[in-house]
Amino acid sequence: MKLLSIVGARPQFIKVKPLVDEFNKKGIQHILVHTGQHYDYEMSQVFFDQLKIPLPDYNLGVGSHSHGKQTGLMLEKIEEVLLKEMPDMVIVYGDTNSTLAGALSAVKLKIPVAHIEAGLRSFRMDMPEEANRVITDRISTILFCPTQTAVENLRKEGITKNVFLVGDVMYDVFLESQKLLSSRTILNDLNLKPKNYLLLTIHRQENTDNLENLKSIFLALKDVNQKVLFPVHPRTKKAIEKIADFEISELKNFQMIEPVSYLDMLVLEKNADKILTDSGGIQKEANWFGIPCLILRNETEWVELLVAGNAALTGSNQMVIKKILFEIDGRPLSNRPLVDSPQASERTVVKLLKWFETQEHNRGEKSGNPK
Ligand code: UD1
Ligand code: UDP
Repeated sequence: MKLLSIVGARPQFIKVKPLVDEFNKKGIQHILVHTGQHYDYEMSQVFFDQLKIPLPDYNLGVGSHSHGKQTGLMLEKIEEVLLKEMPDMVIVYGDTNSTLAGALSAVKLKIPVAHIEAGLRSFRMDMPEEANRVITDRISTILFCPTQTAVENLRKEGITKNVFLVGDVMYDVFLESQKLLSSRTILNDLNLKPKNYLLLTIHRQENTDNLENLKSIFLALKDVNQKVLFPVHPRTKKAIEKIADFEISELKNFQMIEPVSYLDMLVLEKNADKILTDSGGIQKEANWFGIPCLILRNETEWVELLVAGNAALTGSNQMVIKKILFEIDGRPLSNRPLVDSPQASERTVVKLLKWFETQEHNRGEKSGNPK
């Protein structure tokens, strides 16, 4: 059996890590393809180095372009790899352009597709990730859902076959990484004291392509009595460059830094007083650490976090952000962090193997030679 994973963006390197480990443990042949969607050292290679992910067998070097061009280039290059490797299954992760291109290339060659993190929905088609998710789920053969809500979302779209609730593979990496955090020096390096700063990340198109939204978030935080540590995503860096210098110079309590490594990010999250983010991954990690999280969006795909009560939706509205920061000052939103179940990656691989067994059995029956 030959499996082939396609990744390309920061969170996908984290998602593929525990699956690569499972494939190795079980002696399953696995090819790793990096589309090159993310390429800066701190957006890509640092994760391979730190998490000890084997180097990709192929790096397609696609780079940054408009959505159509980026996805088109990926389709062309992924197809070449698939024709050469002819894997038994292609595995795609999350909801980026690399996910969609991977799934589409495979389905055109009649190669079955497995989707990790299937069924998530924001119900907003103007979000590029939503189109990627809906199309990928529609053409996937096996769908691995992180939450019961994701299973339900698929059911409502009529997708019920080969849908498995396995949990969140990011939680496996999160748990595995805890023992490595105490040796990190990032807090000292940045002159930060535990629980004495807010951690901010922004990269969603709705907050970066609309400068008014970005400025509104900044205005909400510029007068708080705490340092705002802000590892800046490259998309956001480009947006900030469009804001007038005098406005940026008003952000005196902001400490803007380059994106950090995964382990350093976990340390920064764990020690933050509160986290403000529009990231999917970071809102979950905030919850796993029990840190109150303001989600800088109007909706979330991870609705369980809202039910658990440790997170609140604020959008980019200055007043709402200020109000919620004030209301939760000094106390968590709730003391009921959502508990995910570990070993999602192991459950995923077990289901994959079972699927292949069933296929083989069915082929045997058709040829009159059941196994
Ligand atoms: C992508 C995903 C998003 C995911 C995010 C994770 C899509 C549509 N979006 O968004 O779902 O949450 O990754 O971080 O796939 N850039 C660099 N260096 C890099 C990478 C990007 O400078 O290594 C800059 C480029 O100017 C690029 C911009 O960032 O145009 C945006 O990158 P892109 O990969 O298109 O989208 P993200 O915003 O990163
Ligand atoms: N992350 C990181 N360094 C950073 C910012 C994020 O290692 O400077 C990690 C974060 O801990 C999480 C993942 O990247 O595991 C989230 O990725 P991102 O926010 O880029 O994308 P999303 O999850 O929104 O798709």
